[in-house]
Amino acid sequence: MQAKTPSDSRTILTDMVLPSETNHLNHLFGGELLARMDRAGSIAARRHSSNITVTASVNHVAFNKSVPLGSIVTVDAKVSRAFKTSMEIYIDVWIEEHSTGARTKANEAIYTFVAVDEDGKPTAVPELKPETDLEKERFAGALRRKQLSLVLAGKMKADDATELRALFIE
Ligand SMILES: CC(C)(COP(=O)(O)OP(=O)(O)OC[C@H]1O[C@@H](n2cnc3c(N)ncnc32)[C@H](O)[C@@H]1OP(=O)(O)O)[C@@H](O)C(=O)NCCC(=O)NCCS
Repeated sequence: MQAKTPSDSRTILTDMVLPSETNHLNHLFGGELLARMDRAGSIAARRHSSNITVTASVNHVAFNKSVPLGSIVTVDAKVSRAFKTSMEIYIDVWIEEHSTGARTKANEAIYTFVAVDEDGKPTAVPELKPETDLEKERFAGALRRKQLSLVLAGKMKADDATELRALFIE
C-alpha cells in the first residue's frame, strides 16, 4: 500500500448554524458539532484508507468557544497518524466572520476511526507521512493518545502503555 500525506485525506465541511441546531443560549448544540466532526472525520478516514470506516472512539473534544446562531462554521479534518488498522483524525473547527472573512479557531477534536471490510473486520491502512511542522507534531503525539484511549477503554493495561508512561516516569 502506498503511503499517503495528511493533505490526501483533508476534508473541509462548511455549513451555517440554524435555529434547530442551537441550545437555550442560541449557541450551536454540542451534539450537533460532534456529528459534523464525526462526518468530516469519517470522510477523511475513508479518503486515507480507501475503505469503509467506523468511529472507534472520540479521544478528545475541547469546546473552547461557543458558536452563535447564524455562524458560518468550517470543520477541517485530516488523518494525523495511521497505525495498523486505525487512524487518528485531528479536527479543527473555525468560525468565519461573514463581513471580513476572518476566521477564528473555535474548537478542536481528536477521533479514532478503524478501516473495516464488508463484515466489519479491521483491515490494514496505508502509512501516513506527515509534511508540515504541525502535522509532524500531531503525528508524534498520536501514539500516546492511542495508548491513553485504549487504557481508558479497558483494552490496554497501563503497564503496557510505554509511550504514555514515559510522559510521567523518567
Ligand atoms: C472499532 C472496532 C472495529 C474495533 O474492533 P476490535 O475488535 O476492538 O478490533 P481490534 O482490537 O483489532 O482493534 C482495531 C484497531 O482499533 C483500535 N482501537 C480499538 N478501540 C480503540 C479505542 N477505544 N481507542 C483507540 N483505538 C482503538 C485498536 O488499537 C486497533 O488499532 P490498530 O490495528 O491500528 O493497532 C469495533 O469495536 C466496532 O466495530 N465498533 C463499533 C463501531 C461503530 O459502530 N461506530 C459508530 C458508533 S455509533
